[in-house]
Amino acid sequence: MLFKDKVVVITGGGSGIGKVSAIKFAEEGAKVVVSDVNEKDGEAVVASIQTNGGIASFVKADVSKYEEVVHLIQTTIDTYGGLDIGLNNAGIGGNVTLKTADADVKDFDKVMAVNTSGVFYCMKLQLKHMQQQKSGAIVNIASIAGLRGLPNNLAYVASKHAVVGMTKTAAMEYAKHGIRINAVCPAFTKTQLFNPELYEQFAPGIADKLMKNIPMRRFGEASEIADAILWICSERSSFVTGLALPVDGGLTA
Ligand SMILES: NC(=O)c1ccc[n+]([C@@H]2O[C@H](COP(=O)([O-])OP(=O)(O)OC[C@H]3O[C@@H](n4cnc5c(N)ncnc54)[C@H](O)[C@@H]3O)[C@@H](O)[C@H]2O)c1
Repeated sequence: MLFKDKVVVITGGGSGIGKVSAIKFAEEGAKVVVSDVNEKDGEAVVASIQTNGGIASFVKADVSKYEEVVHLIQTTIDTYGGLDIGLNNAGIGGNVTLKTADADVKDFDKVMAVNTSGVFYCMKLQLKHMQQQKSGAIVNIASIAGLRGLPNNLAYVASKHAVVGMTKTAAMEYAKHGIRINAVCPAFTKTQLFNPELYEQFAPGIADKLMKNIPMRRFGEASEIADAILWICSERSSFVTGLALPVDGGLTA
């Protein structure tokens, strides 16, 4: 087992990439704290892990609220006696139809609060603990939108470029302390956040158009992103830190 008795905290663990990662970490022997704003989804993931003999618990937290992240990290440490891996995954898409001059200020602030401030709050508190134990791994979920521009999606692109920048900076700061910090950058992956059928309803033909830009000519599966996440948190990537790893069917190649 890759993560026997390791303690993992996962934000946005109630759905999509976070959910599949939670299940896979538990299958590999980890004790998993599933966190989400959506209590029902998060509790359901915990129940399914427990049914299969794994160890997991749920803590509700909105990552854009610092006090809730403080509570999440403290509860994790109190419950399982430590924290080895932080998967900072919670994220929202924001508006995808408006160019920069028409972009909505409230939408921008909300996306930055969840996607960027949320990752900062999590890393800050995870690192406070990990630097004392002199070990740990953090993976922040960015996006191909953290590596390139995407028209009509300014807030999301800004928020994910910030995640890549924070990842690289923190990786350099904590490399000497035995803590590795990396980002995973998925392209279009079938989840609640990116549902090609829904996109088709408001922009017919869009799914085909997006797919044509991907050399593999298909969208990603949450399990493919989760596999990259588990690798980058495991000892199998022990010399890897500060990486922003595209998992994108060749899109950014
Ligand atoms: N699906 C894609 O195509 C894709 C591509 C690139 C990057 N990503 C990134 O992957 C991550 C996971 O997304 P997903 O595709 O699995 O989406 P998803 O919508 O299935 O899951 C996101 C989860 O985050 C939770 N969440 C939202 N706001 C939150 C908040 N403020 N605090 C705590 N939890 C919150 C949601 O309740 C949900 O359970 C996100 O950071 C997203 O930006 C997704």
